Amino acid sequence: MIILLGATGYVGSAFSRLLHSRGIPFLAVSRQSCDYSDASTLCSLLREQRASFVINCAGYTGKPNVDACEGQKYDCLQGNALLPGVVKTVCEDLNVAWGHVSSGCIFTGDRSSGRSDNNPAGFTEVNPPNFSFRQNNCSFYSGTKALGEEILGYGEVLCPDGQRVWENKEEATGYLWRLRIPFNEQDSARNFLTKLMTYNRLLDARNSLSHLDEFVRACWECWERRLAFGIYNVTNPGSITTREVVELIRQSPIGKKLGAAGKQFEFFKNESEFMSVAALTPRSNCVLDTHKLSSGGIVMTPVAEAIKNALQTWKER
Ligand SMILES: NC(=O)c1ccc[n+]([C@@H]2O[C@H](COP(=O)([O-])OP(=O)(O)OC[C@H]3O[C@@H](n4cnc5c(N)ncnc54)[C@H](OP(=O)(O)O)[C@@H]3O)[C@@H](O)[C@H]2O)c1
Repeated sequence: MIILLGATGYVGSAFSRLLHSRGIPFLAVSRQSCDYSDASTLCSLLREQRASFVINCAGYTGKPNVDACEGQKYDCLQGNALLPGVVKTVCEDLNVAWGHVSSGCIFTGDRSSGRSDNNPAGFTEVNPPNFSFRQNNCSFYSGTKALGEEILGYGEVLCPDGQRVWENKEEATGYLWRLRIPFNEQDSARNFLTKLMTYNRLLDARNSLSHLDEFVRACWECWERRLAFGIYNVTNPGSITTREVVELIRQSPIGKKLGAAGKQFEFFKNESEFMSVAALTPRSNCVLDTHKLSSGGIVMTPVAEAIKNALQTWKER
């Protein structure tokens, strides 16, 4: 049986839809039905259900945004760093493979070395996080997500050639799937496209993004194809700026409707203005490299095309 933790959440619901649509038997577990943060409770559940794979979509994201994590540090640390450790330990004891939803928000920048570049290299799976408690430059949320990867066995290693790499210090027993700024065609307060259409002012930045339904499909395929365990950046190939996404929105049917209703898209002058007016804690803006996933044969739609498709098939609430 496939066990889905955090099934009530935004990402967990997408996994539920995918498994359901493919007729794959799974058990959707909520905290209300089972305290899966308790190792012995989780262990009993996995034994009873004869678990074959555990998908962990549980975590603390902060609502309406990561600023909320600054005031809910216990929940954030528990959900993003301690819980993944419980899941891994129990799964390893029972010899059950697992997949954990990690995040690209543990990086800042695009690895273009400061050059103006519309196609920057992006961070690979072996680059150590540069937006974490260890760098002392991050939000509490990002810090706990990077700590989660450490608790799952990863850490910085100094190579003989002087390079620092992010390596699993143990034998890998599961997947870490890095999600980044989810969106799809369903209007929702959690959808990045809805956020851009509803926020009063926007911060322009270049990012990798993940189409939510493509993300869960790609994660599932990692397991279905038995790709090697380890970290995968699961984002749509390429990167895009907020202004470029807004331009795609403007040209779409929903954008034209918003335009006719008088919607203006306004931007902060820069990140300092954004930080002084609209945010409590620094945001990660970053580009991830997706070659590891595609070289495993898992193909996602290029990011601009995926956004255009979502806008063309937009479903209002
Ligand atoms: N959404 C994003 O933008 C995004 C981006 C990158 C990565 N991620 C990661 O994806 C995972 C799922 O995110 P999501 O957007 O689906 O979150 P969500 O909608 O807030 O759902 C969170 C899920 O986690 C469960 N949970 C378990 N322990 C928790 C705790 N200590 N605090 C809060 N919730 C807890 C919740 O259960 P109950 O229903 O019982 O509360 C719920 O099922 C998280 O690990 C997150 O860091 C999300």
